[in-house]
Amino acid sequence: MARPGSYARYAPKVKGKTILVTGGTGSFGSAVVAQLLTLSPKRVIVFSRDEQKQFEMGNRFDDARLSFVIGDVRDRGAVDHAMEGVDYVFHAAALKQVVTGEFFPMELVKTNVLGSANVIHSAIDHGVARVVVLSTDKASSPVCVMGMTKALMEREMIATAHRGGGKTVVCATRFGNVLYSRGSVVPYLIDRMREGKSLTVTDPAMTRFLMTIPESLDLILFALTSGKPGEIYIRKAPVAAVGDLVAAVAELFSPRALVETIGARPGEKTHEFLISAAEARRARDHGAYYSIAPQIRGQAFPAYYFKGTGAAKIPAGGYSSGDATLLSREEIKALLLSLPEVRAELAAR
Ligand SMILES: NC(=O)c1ccc[n+]([C@@H]2O[C@H](COP(=O)([O-])OP(=O)(O)OC[C@H]3O[C@@H](n4cnc5c(N)ncnc54)[C@H](OP(=O)(O)O)[C@@H]3O)[C@@H](O)[C@H]2O)c1
Repeated sequence: MARPGSYARYAPKVKGKTILVTGGTGSFGSAVVAQLLTLSPKRVIVFSRDEQKQFEMGNRFDDARLSFVIGDVRDRGAVDHAMEGVDYVFHAAALKQVVTGEFFPMELVKTNVLGSANVIHSAIDHGVARVVVLSTDKASSPVCVMGMTKALMEREMIATAHRGGGKTVVCATRFGNVLYSRGSVVPYLIDRMREGKSLTVTDPAMTRFLMTIPESLDLILFALTSGKPGEIYIRKAPVAAVGDLVAAVAELFSPRALVETIGARPGEKTHEFLISAAEARRARDHGAYYSIAPQIRGQAFPAYYFKGTGAAKIPAGGYSSGDATLLSREEIKALLLSLPEVRAELAAR
């Protein structure tokens, strides 16, 4: 993989290609679009529902190679329309909030499971070369509806990976908490401080894998250009206790802010798994990242048996944030200060 910020090595495989980014107006999707446009694609197509976000993104990017399609991934006809002439698909469209899923499970089933299946099947039917679906650590030993629906999306990816005569390579990436993505904890806390409200922490002892968008982009581009059918790619990531993350934000922005513990929200785990115990034996270690081999390879019966070539040194219990050495508050502050958004917020104060 390339170092974050140095993606030129992916250019030969992106040059001249047409790439569809579902959820391209979101935090991840728009960062992927920005990066793809530096790699000489023929076209980048954004597919999402809200015209206002598309309008604002079109103005911000002002690039003739970028086009927009309004549609819902739940609607196969709309997905088919966007898929015409596409070489690669990056599927980021999703309902991603844990708590939303607990109240409206079937809405997440419709978008994250059925919508993702629409994208994968449409890509195979249109002879698309490569598809990457974006997943989350919450899909690994899931306890929340959002994680369960993302786990089903991953399984559909695996089940279809060997269909279509191998013309379409379908694989996945899985991430922990992406710092400063839309609706995530750091911008939420900064907004509360701006409004003079207390800072809320769910459970200070909870631990979370943390990563930046540039680090995530690197793995996405790797999967998009070199991923293998049915594999899931996972970047190794530092871990912080939620209490330390909130304290670090307070120390940077408002050291005297009141911190209030409110308790775990529905569907939240104390620790996350990027690789579950069941997956650990199929995982391979590639240095900066892991891959998990699919548990089925088509319907050929002998291929049901995994022959144990994984051999990554992962604890039998899985790759868990609960086993990691935690970042200190100073290390978390340094990580936060590496984000341009945090530096801009501090400069504006
Ligand atoms: N942020 C994180 O920390 C994190 C960590 C791990 C994995 N992920 C995964 O990364 C993906 C993107 O996350 P994000 O942070 O970029 O989310 P985001 O900022 O909320 O963006 C979601 C995108 O999906 C689109 N969308 C939602 N429902 C749709 C539908 N039914 N049809 C078409 N488009 C739809 C949204 O646009 P419209 O509303 O206009 O349709 C938006 O463009 C998700 O799959 C999420 O699970 C995120």
